[in-house]
Amino acid sequence: MSNLHDSADRYGLVTRLLHWNMAILLGWQFVTVIAHTAMEDSGLDKLLWSTHKPTGLLLMILVLIRLVWAVASHSRRPAAISLMAKLGHASLYVLMFVIPFVALLRQYGSGREFVAFGMTLMPGFSDGKIRWMIEPANLLHGNLGWLLLVLVIGHVVMAFVHRRLGGEDVLARMIGR
Ligand code: HEM
Ligand code: HEM
Repeated sequence: MSNLHDSADRYGLVTRLLHWNMAILLGWQFVTVIAHTAMEDSGLDKLLWSTHKPTGLLLMILVLIRLVWAVASHSRRPAAISLMAKLGHASLYVLMFVIPFVALLRQYGSGREFVAFGMTLMPGFSDGKIRWMIEPANLLHGNLGWLLLVLVIGHVVMAFVHRRLGGEDVLARMIGR
C-alpha cells in the first residue's frame, strides 16, 4: 500500500501534509486576530492583519481539498478512538469550512475589490451592498473563529492526554511514525 494513502493504523502523507500545513496557517491566522484585538492600530497589527484575508483564502482552498480527500479516504482511515473524537473532528471540519466561507461571502457582498496574491479575485461593484451576503459573517465569522481556537486547544490537549495515558498513541498516527 502506498505511503500517500491512509491506512487502518496511521494517516498517509497527503492527510499529514494537509493537517500540519493547515495547523500552521491556522496558527498564523490566530496570531493575526490576537494582534488585531490586543494591539489595535499598532504597526504590528497593521503588518499582520494585512495577511489575514489571503491566509484565510488559502485555508478555504485547503479545506475544500481536505474535505474531498477525507470523504475519499473515509473507509481506510484509522478508526476514531471514541464518539467524542469523531464529533470533535467533525466540528473542526464544519468550522474550518464555515468561517472562511461566510467571510468570503461578506467580502463579495460588500462590493469592495478583493485582491490577494497579486490577483484581483473580486472586482467589486459600486451599486450598493448585498445585505444577505454580509449578515452571516457579521453574526458568525468572529464568534465562530474564537470558538475554533478553543476547540483546537482542546484538540491539541486531548492528543497529548491520549499519548500520555497510554492506550492508543493518536499522535504517532498523525506524525507518521
Ligand atoms: C479559517 C480562516 C479564518 C479564521 C480562523 C478567521 C478568524 C477570525 C477571527 C477570530 C476574527 C475576529 C477578530 C475580532 O474579534 O476582532 C476575524 C475577523 C475578521 N476576519 Fe477572519 N478568519 C478567517 C478567514 C477570513 C477570510 C477568508 C476573510 C476575508 C476574505 C476574513 C476577514 C475578516 C475580517 C474582515 C474580520 C474583521 C471583522 C469581523 O470581526 O468579522 N477572515 N477572523
Ligand atoms: C499542534 C497542533 C495539533 C496537534 C498536536 C494535532 C494532533 C492531531 C492528532 C494526533 C490527530 C489524530 C487523531 C486520531 O487519529 O484520533 C489529529 C487529527 C485531526 N486533527 Fe489535529 N492536531 C493539531 C492541530 C489541528 C488543527 C489546527 C486542526 C484544525 C482546526 C486539526 C484538525 C484535525 C482533524 C480534523 C483531525 C482528523 C483527521 C483529519 O481529518 O485530518 N488539528 N490531530
